[in-house]
Amino acid sequence: MIEEASKLLARSRFAIAFTGAGISAESGVPTFRGFNGLWKKHRPEELATPEAFRKDPHLVWSFYKWRMGLIMKARPNRAHYALAELEEMGILKAVITQNVDDLHREAGTKNLIELHGNIFRVRCTSCGYEENLKENGRLEEFLVQKDLPKCPNCDSLLRPDVVWFGEPLPRKALDEAFKLAEKADLVLVIGTSGVVYPAAYIPQIVRETGGKVIEVNPEESGITPIADVFLRCPAGEAMEKLMKRIKGLI
Ligand code: APR
Ligand code: ZN
Repeated sequence: MIEEASKLLARSRFAIAFTGAGISAESGVPTFRGFNGLWKKHRPEELATPEAFRKDPHLVWSFYKWRMGLIMKARPNRAHYALAELEEMGILKAVITQNVDDLHREAGTKNLIELHGNIFRVRCTSCGYEENLKENGRLEEFLVQKDLPKCPNCDSLLRPDVVWFGEPLPRKALDEAFKLAEKADLVLVIGTSGVVYPAAYIPQIVRETGGKVIEVNPEESGITPIADVFLRCPAGEAMEKLMKRIKGLI
């Protein structure tokens, strides 16, 4: 299986990766739906919706601050680094992620498409103000503030710049992702349950336009039925093995 996956990848002309929460599980970021998934304890519809935010912004903000604190301490793992290395080698052309944790960027991935936003960015609910708290070095100060965060321009409430249930995906990111999927002759799908749309269309588009689908997941997912190669394995281990083989092939 690893053998076949590495051959396909080494021979590909335009490979992309499509990742979900599972790629960050070994970095200590809880997944959403799996065993021990984040939302076993917190129901998603209570927290990650515009309605919840309108009803109880304090609750939603305390949940996001908790996640920001957790993710702030997380470091990329072998799988994130492998993807950055594959890009450096010229094999991988882009990483399309549903994750908001910034770990692909930390690992060095350059062409990164974030379909669901980024947890370190905040934006105003009224005007166009947005800020990356991590880049501005304001994250720690932000996390200890007790009051609801307000916009420095118009004093309206700030919100996390992530996509909530029922909200559209950022147009530019989605367009780019679909274009890449049409162009790709291979997609490496890592750690996603593949049930959240429109993101889950990405591997389907690659497949429909004649490309190969390689999946890495310790469990079967919504993508498994269309996978040409299914590596039933945690991301770190699978990517380490894959990298060793690829280096032997090129
Ligand atoms: N390596 C690889 N995959 C793993 C690992 C691991 N070590 N551990 C768990 N997984 C797999 C699980 O088997 C599961 O299929 O990762 C997947 C995680 O699935 P979800 O929690 O549903 O995460 P994701 O697919 O990213 O969810 C998509 O849903 O709620 C929204 O916006 C949120 O971006 C998120 C989207
Ligand atoms: Zn504002």
